[in-house]
Amino acid sequence: QMQRYNLERLYLSRNAFGIAFDIDGVLIQGSETIERAPEALRRLYKDVDTGKLQVPYVFLTNGGGMTEAARAKELTRQLSVPVNPIQVHLGHTPFKTLAQRYRGKKVLSLGKGEPETALTSYGFSTVVKMDNYFREFPHIDPLLSYKPWAKYESNANGMLMPEIERQIAAVFVCSDPVDWSRDIQVLCDVLRAGGYPGKLDSQLPQPSLYFAADDFEYSTKFPVPRFGMGAFRIALESLYVKLIKRPLLYTSYGKPKPIVYHLAAKSLHRIAGMMYSKPGMNSHSEEDPNVGPLELPLPVDRARQEGALKTLYMIGDNPETDIAGAIGAGRPWYSILVRSGNFRGGGNHDKYPADKVVDNVYEAVDFVLKKEG
Ligand code: G3P
Ligand code: MG
Repeated sequence: QMQRYNLERLYLSRNAFGIAFDIDGVLIQGSETIERAPEALRRLYKDVDTGKLQVPYVFLTNGGGMTEAARAKELTRQLSVPVNPIQVHLGHTPFKTLAQRYRGKKVLSLGKGEPETALTSYGFSTVVKMDNYFREFPHIDPLLSYKPWAKYESNANGMLMPEIERQIAAVFVCSDPVDWSRDIQVLCDVLRAGGYPGKLDSQLPQPSLYFAADDFEYSTKFPVPRFGMGAFRIALESLYVKLIKRPLLYTSYGKPKPIVYHLAAKSLHRIAGMMYSKPGMNSHSEEDPNVGPLELPLPVDRARQEGALKTLYMIGDNPETDIAGAIGAGRPWYSILVRSGNFRGGGNHDKYPADKVVDNVYEAVDFVLKKEG
């Protein structure tokens, strides 16, 4: 009852809006913080020292390779504002919803960083990471001895892992794969034969394959965008189809998928609800279990069904993901394209025109705060 009251009050308030920030190309470039990004974020706090927010906001990135809690710590350091893990949506965050399906089954994780730590934190019971799994199969990567960075020995006894232990029920590509040649080779081995590398039996069904995102390119410090997970997917898919002569079955998450915007909207409402229900809510607070999944109390129109925030801003640098997704999710999403990352054009994007285009994230936040004035 209390929560309903607060959400109604929130809906009627002046600050009934929230912001989702893309990370790469908007706030961070490579490992460097984009100029004035910390200053822009500081404007969303009532008090940066205590972490008390005045505008609900989340980070909505297709990147990952660590837990949301670890990313929150890293963002706190990089952006000099206190970030709460509930504000962090990574590409692989929606994998949470799949943990139950694979209870008691072995799943394979891959990508830069520590994807297995993230999956384990979501409740997956048996996660093996590619860096360890491939070592169970001597000679699986014929190029290994030419890779000076791969200091690993294969397993000491030179025996294949027992078949019963080998089987992979599903593969999760959590972050950008590092060693494409090895990963594509091993994934073809896993996927072609029911999750048993080393077999040639293509009658066995393909294990499920999940990608955290499908970005073809993303922005780094290099002047030209770099290949992302979507490019890896295309490389894997074309070799798999050529080899096995059947389509590769997969599911990819990340922006521009509507589910991502739906989950981000839910978090923004939750954060707004916490700000209003508990005057002490600040970005250091642990998630309050009593707030629970929001019962959305205002079933009038679509914006209201989504909750109490009247406008949700998506600030991104990639028209194909950030902006296309916000357009697809519809109102109350409002898209702002920045020119500091992937998109560098003078006007707007032709295929996915944003509601507003500005040079950088500082201008974007300034625009939002003036508009909501
Ligand atoms: O690897 C990260 C890249 O795919 C996109 O990150 O923050 O721009 O969604 P972001
Ligand atoms: Mg980006």
